[in-house]
Amino acid sequence: MAGIGKTLRFYGNWKAEMTPAKTREFFKKFANEAVVKNFNLLKDSGAKIMIAPPSACLESARLSINEHSLGQFVELGVQAPWHVVGAYTGFTTLEMAKDPAIAAKYAVIGHSERRQPWRTIEAAIRNSLKGAPSPLNPDDVVGSVIASILKEIAIDSNKPQPFGIALDRIVNAQVKEALKVGITPILCVGETLSERKEGRTTEVVLSQLSSGLEGLPPELVKLTEIAYEPVWAIGTGETASPEQAEEVHVKIYDRLSEHAQTPKHNIPIVYGGSMKPDNVAALVKKPPIWGGLIGGASLKADVFMLLIQNGIAAVS
Ligand code: PGA
Repeated sequence: MAGIGKTLRFYGNWKAEMTPAKTREFFKKFANEAVVKNFNLLKDSGAKIMIAPPSACLESARLSINEHSLGQFVELGVQAPWHVVGAYTGFTTLEMAKDPAIAAKYAVIGHSERRQPWRTIEAAIRNSLKGAPSPLNPDDVVGSVIASILKEIAIDSNKPQPFGIALDRIVNAQVKEALKVGITPILCVGETLSERKEGRTTEVVLSQLSSGLEGLPPELVKLTEIAYEPVWAIGTGETASPEQAEEVHVKIYDRLSEHAQTPKHNIPIVYGGSMKPDNVAALVKKPPIWGGLIGGASLKADVFMLLIQNGIAAVS
């Protein structure tokens, strides 16, 4: 796997942080970091930089990128877009993201922060069907409401389905719709701490991967990017070791080459989970790690730029 020609990716996922005013402030500072201080470094490396702001900040982000001539370096992404236009209060659609006022090029799909609540609900329903104790926390508002609903209703399921299948189908529909409208999906996959401890990392990650890509012809699989994000490393300050991440990336490559019917290494896989300026180098030095999906460390322009600099230096 050594020597693969990879173009590094630094994808910022702002989650529900930031406001339009903070967004403008970020890009003003980032323009100074990127265009003034690091123009040649970014141009020569060809590194791809993306920011996925919260939906209320997308237009401010686009205006700021244009104002500071950052379009040569930075693309926009949309977080967890809904794949259908219609009566869905509060959702951001791919159609909105595609509008020239936003012009997003990427979509972060299947992030664990979107998967996890549904997985908890599904586990609670399944346990209740089996008469097993509920994993819901009664002190948590959502947990207590669901627990009381489950007490009230009896669900009969004669056709057991694999865990997470309903959610996987939604993720798959979102990946397909993104590709249809010309937005690159970044399909997020990753195991929880308990799944890792049970030795199920590969099984969980590959099942999320295959169901996310199900039904896609090889030429569309090749237009998809993957983020491996171990859930236990997200926002915790705990990073997967470069070896742990590499091991899973290699498994993802093997499965991807089946879906894409192509030799390995052509589909970018980034790592996500507490990537920081001081751990990026060791991670991206591993051949199958093409960069990062970065939460906390993408919120400050100087920190994000330092992470990018350290990442580029590590592979130069
Ligand atoms: P983090 O978030 O860098 O803050 O851990 C990564 C992500 O969830 O995409």
